[in-house]
Amino acid sequence: MSIEVALREEQTEATGARQNFPAIRVASVGKHFTRAGTRALTVLDDVSFSVALGSITAILGPSGCGKSTLLNIIAGLVAADRGSVLIDGQPLQTFVDWGRVGYLFQDDRLLPWRTAIENIALGLEAERIPRTERRDRARQALLSVGLAGFERMYPGELSGGMRSRVALARSLVKEPRILLLDEPFSKLDPALRSQMHLELLGIQAARKMSVVFVTHDIEEAVTLADRVVILQPNPGRVRTEIEIGLARPRLHGNPAMTAQMQALRQLI
Ligand SMILES: Nc1ncnc2c1ncn2[C@@H]1O[C@H](COP(=O)(O)OP(=O)(O)O)[C@@H](O)[C@H]1O
Ligand SMILES: [Mg+2]
Repeated sequence: MSIEVALREEQTEATGARQNFPAIRVASVGKHFTRAGTRALTVLDDVSFSVALGSITAILGPSGCGKSTLLNIIAGLVAADRGSVLIDGQPLQTFVDWGRVGYLFQDDRLLPWRTAIENIALGLEAERIPRTERRDRARQALLSVGLAGFERMYPGELSGGMRSRVALARSLVKEPRILLLDEPFSKLDPALRSQMHLELLGIQAARKMSVVFVTHDIEEAVTLADRVVILQPNPGRVRTEIEIGLARPRLHGNPAMTAQMQALRQLI
């Protein structure tokens, strides 16, 4: 090991920062599923990409190309057959600090018998955090998504937009440094989706989170992402990666954005 490398590692340990590593590194990941009576289905084949610290990456591809499976593998919810995933330079197998990783599922998965604030606090219950602190942090998270005053409402009493904010707040309550989102706003109408995009971008910039979201929506990818990883189906492979260099906010109808979307459409 060179002196420079040794010094850098020492500094890294001293500051607790891991600036030398991407937030996420997916390397040659493969996954197949077997169903009784059918041939094995290869869902992901040799998928590799990196997510730079503090950046937003979109995984874009048609329905069924393995996006959710890939996100579940990154989140440690599904095991890959091949390859590896590193979070902050640590292999998934030994990674333990899941408080650092937030996950927003495609369906909001709110518990109907719990109020908004109780749903959000759920994320903190596994940890030994006192009840009052859990409540305070859940309230803060609810505030950060613009839902002050809705603490005691049940999911059944909330609109679709409010529910997705509660789900977003729940994924943020542990103040994750990495946020994974699976088509989070796909069920919202376009106006509400745009509003949620702006809120997510505001929160991401304020907290400098590294974000990975999967989508089949080209406009969503171009609106939010610094980098787009395009997946092609059968089996899911990375077709190409595109850097989106457009200034923010990226508004619907902006000519540069329209051109970028056109370019992506050619690639899918
Ligand atoms: N647990 C599973 N068992 C069997 N097949 C699965 C399972 N999960 C996903 N698949 C299949 O893998 C493929 C990719 O699914 P998915 O990752 O959900 O794609 P996407 O999110 O891009 O729509 C689909 O054909 C789906 O039916
Ligand atoms: Mg999916």
